[in-house]
Amino acid sequence: MTDYLKILSDKLDALKESGSYRYFLDVNKSAQHFPRFHYENEMGEKKTAVNWCSNDYMCMSVQEEVIGKLNFVSHRSGAGSGGTRNISGTTIYHKQLEQTLAALHKKEAALLFSGAYLANTTTLNTLGKLFKDVVFISDEENHASLIEGIKGCHAEKHIFRHNDVQHLEEILKNIAPERPKIIVFESVYSISGTISPVEEIVLLAKKYNCLTYIDEVHAVGLYGTDGGGVTSQLQLQKGIDIINGTLAKGFGVIGGYIAADKTIVDAIRSFGSGFIFTTSLPPAICAAAAKSIELLRANDEWRSHFHFNIQLLRKHLKRNEVLFNDNVSHITTITIGDATTCKKVADTLLREYGLYLQPVNYPTVKKGEACLRITTTLKHSEEEMIYLAQSLYKVLSPVLQQVQQKQQQNQ
Ligand SMILES: Cc1ncc(COP(=O)(O)O)c(C=O)c1O
Repeated sequence: MTDYLKILSDKLDALKESGSYRYFLDVNKSAQHFPRFHYENEMGEKKTAVNWCSNDYMCMSVQEEVIGKLNFVSHRSGAGSGGTRNISGTTIYHKQLEQTLAALHKKEAALLFSGAYLANTTTLNTLGKLFKDVVFISDEENHASLIEGIKGCHAEKHIFRHNDVQHLEEILKNIAPERPKIIVFESVYSISGTISPVEEIVLLAKKYNCLTYIDEVHAVGLYGTDGGGVTSQLQLQKGIDIINGTLAKGFGVIGGYIAADKTIVDAIRSFGSGFIFTTSLPPAICAAAAKSIELLRANDEWRSHFHFNIQLLRKHLKRNEVLFNDNVSHITTITIGDATTCKKVADTLLREYGLYLQPVNYPTVKKGEACLRITTTLKHSEEEMIYLAQSLYKVLSPVLQQVQQKQQQNQ
C-alpha cells in the first residue's frame, strides 16, 4: 500500500539534509518603522531587526498616500471584488489601473492578474497554444514563472546562454523562417543583478520576425524617469511586444500585469485560463497600486535617492572588504556557495547582529550557489549601511576563509 505521508516526509528529510529546506521568519512588519521590525526568537523573546531582503524597494507598501487610498476605497467598495473579471469582478478601479499601466509602458492596453507569476504563466502558455508550431527562445536565467509558462503549452523551446545575443542569433538562424517565434527574457535578473541587452535583442527580433516578451518585475518603479522600467529608460517600449511587471515590489502593493498591443491583450483576456477563471484583485488594491504608480511616475528624485543608496551601501561594503557581485543594477549579491553555511551565516546575522538577510538557496539558485541577496531601500540610513557592512565583515571573514581552505584541500 502506498504510504503517502512517508514519501513526502522522506523528500522533506532529503531537502533538510541538503541545506535547502526553507525556514520562514515571522516578520512583525511595522509601517511606521520600516525597515525595522519585531520578531520572536526561538525562546519566545521579542527582538528587533533591520530588514535587508525586502523587495519593497521604494517603500511604497508603507507610503502614507498609498495606505490612505487603500483604506478609503476598501471602506467605499469593500474588501474583495466578489467575482472573476467576467462576472462582476471588473470595477472602475480595475479599468483605471489598466489604463494607468498601458500609459506607463506606452502601450495600447494592459491586463491585470493576481501576480506577475500568474501573468507570466498564463500569457506564455496561452500564446503557445494560439500560435501553431511556435518556438520559444528563452534566456537560461529566466524566472521559474517564465519557464513554467513555456513548459505548460508543450511548445518547442530553446535556451540561449544568459544575455548572450550571439548564441541567441545562432538559435534563431536554425529555426525555419515561417515558424512563429517568441523571445522570452527579463530586464533585471533578480539574483545575479545583470541587465539584459534589450536593444540588441529587439534588433534580432526584428531581423528574424519574432515576438518579444520581457519580464520587468525587478525594474518597474525603479528604472526610467517615469519608473516604467528598463524599456522606458532605453525608450524601447515600442520595440518590445509584451511587457510584464509586478505591482508588488517597486510599487509595493500586490498584483501583476502585461502591457501590449490591444489585440494581444484581448487574446489573453479571451483565451487565458489563468486570467478568466480566478477572482479579480480587490478594488482597493487596484486603487492603491494606481496611486503608487502615479507617485512614482511623478517623483523621479525618489528613484535618484534609491540608486544613490545602492552606491552608498556598496561603498561601505568595499571599505569593509566585503566581497559582493558588483553589477550594474540595484541587486547586491554575496555568494556563499554551500547552502548550510549560507543559512548559518544568515542565522548569526539575525541572532547576534539584528540583521535580516534571508539565505537564497536551491531552487531559486543552482545547487552550490547559495547566496545572500541584499536589497537596499529608500529608507535604509547610512548608519544602518555601515553597521551592515561591519557586521558582514565580522561574520563572513572566518566563514569564507574556511570555504577557501576546504576548496584548496579538495584540489
Ligand atoms: C523575475 C520575476 N518574475 C516574476 C515574479 C513573480 O512576481 P509576483 O510576486 O508579482 O507574482 C518574480 C518574483 O516574485 C520574479 O522575481
